[in-house]
Amino acid sequence: MTRNTVIRGVLDGLAYWPRRAWHCLIDGGWKAVLCRVLGLGAVAAIGGLLFVALGLPSIAASQPHWPVTKRLLEIVMTHTVRMRTLGEQAPPLDDPALVLRGAGHYATGCAPCHSAPGQRASLIVQGMLPSPPKLPEDMHNLAPSEMFWIVKHGLKYTSMPAWPAPKREDEVWAMVAFLRALPSLDPAEYRRLAYGELMPEAGIGRDGAYLATLQTPPQTALANCARCHGEDGTGRGLGAFPKLAGQRETYLLASLRAYGSGERHSGVMQPIAAGLSDPQMRALARHYASLAPTGATPAVGTPAANPGHDADLIARGERLATDGDAPRRIPACRQCHGPGAVVRHPLHPDLANQYRDYLALQLQLFRDGHRGGTPRAHVMRHAALALTPGDIDALSAYYASLPAPAPAAARAAR
Ligand code: HEC
Ligand code: HEC
Ligand code: HEC
Repeated sequence: MTRNTVIRGVLDGLAYWPRRAWHCLIDGGWKAVLCRVLGLGAVAAIGGLLFVALGLPSIAASQPHWPVTKRLLEIVMTHTVRMRTLGEQAPPLDDPALVLRGAGHYATGCAPCHSAPGQRASLIVQGMLPSPPKLPEDMHNLAPSEMFWIVKHGLKYTSMPAWPAPKREDEVWAMVAFLRALPSLDPAEYRRLAYGELMPEAGIGRDGAYLATLQTPPQTALANCARCHGEDGTGRGLGAFPKLAGQRETYLLASLRAYGSGERHSGVMQPIAAGLSDPQMRALARHYASLAPTGATPAVGTPAANPGHDADLIARGERLATDGDAPRRIPACRQCHGPGAVVRHPLHPDLANQYRDYLALQLQLFRDGHRGGTPRAHVMRHAALALTPGDIDALSAYYASLPAPAPAAARAAR
């Protein structure tokens, strides 16, 4: 074998695949069509790799999208959300308590990006791409179930975050109730809903200031709590927020720790508690436990705050709370929650005079396995397993109708 024959052999070998590919492309029939499609795909893939390898795509947020890219992204977003929510029905959303609960969280979790009535959009946020639309002016005529989907899941590649507690769909609906009310709110109404008696001028609630409050002494953190739980700790009267005033200190502290560690799920309370130090939590728990449970909000516990005040229902709740229902494996609630003179574990909360809607919501969460809590939460999950919607209704009506427990000082021995 001469040297030339060897070289020709090697060259022939090297040219084998390109030659076959060439023949495949120019031959007729379905094979050629397939080859051309594959060939185009290969060229596009190599081109794409080169495009990325040379650093050519523009990822600068300082450059706006081309109009066509912007339109395409909008179509993908609205179409995907619409397809994923086809046929979904929203629950009733007109309850003012839902709107109030949504407003409280909007001010801390959404307004820094989406702005709010009477607030200018932050310059920093305007530098984002896509920049968060000023809600609600810029909302794509979303149906409630579409808003729900977006707020629950967030939007990938846009900085729109998912809801921090995926199990709490009730909280997401509260946010949707607020978003629906937002178009009709003027700045004063918005401030009243989101900040209660406290105004942002008092030093909290400005964009970004919320984050600062959680690092600073309890006094500032306390001002933040008061936006939702009321300055007197009685929860602002509608049942949107639980009453904390006069609650047992050990339970309050353990609940804050449970939110902070993610043991108790709430997209509203988890981010707040996660920013508190342990000494801050102790100070806050002591403060709320020491407040008078009746507070300055006479509406708590009255028929107005607990709609559907119904003697038969309350009597049914009282029977179940006192005796339990052994065949259905429902324990007597009173042995752990009172009322009565029994000495109780310090982690068993008071329920008397708490808001009816809040009690019912927590019982549903326990029953459905969606409520964590303190290290004693498992006993409560067990107690709630067999409760029917009727039981929950009766028990919450009963406990909400009870007078507030005696002031904390007198209860020190319990
Ligand atoms: C870090 C900034 C950021 C935060 C915080 C944020 N969002 Fe968004 N959100 C965005 C961005 C960006 C978009 C726009 C996405 C787009 O243009 O495709 C968006 C889009 C939306 C939309 C869709 C509007 C539309 O029609 O295009 C809704 C509704 C929404 N957000 C609600 C909320 C709510 C409620 C909260 C608070 C729980 C929240 N967002 C918190 C950044 C944020
Ligand atoms: C944006 C409104 C909002 C703010 C601000 C807020 N809370 Fe809450 N808080 C809620 C809501 C809503 C719940 C009920 C959450 C749930 O369903 O678990 C709650 C629940 C609680 C509970 C549990 C009560 C119980 O009976 O189990 C405690 C304790 C608590 N908050 C303390 C605080 C403290 C302390 C602060 C201030 C550092 C604070 N909260 C700030 C809305 C708020
Ligand atoms: C063996 C004791 C025990 C029994 C019996 C019991 N519970 Fe509880 N319950 C607890 C504990 C402990 C918690 C606190 C859970 C946590 O957050 O860690 C709790 C929490 C609750 C809460 C939430 C309170 C709040 O402020 O968030 C409600 C509502 C409640 N129980 C209602 C009931 C009802 C109604 C019954 C009767 C069907 C009942 N419980 C029976 C121990 C008990």
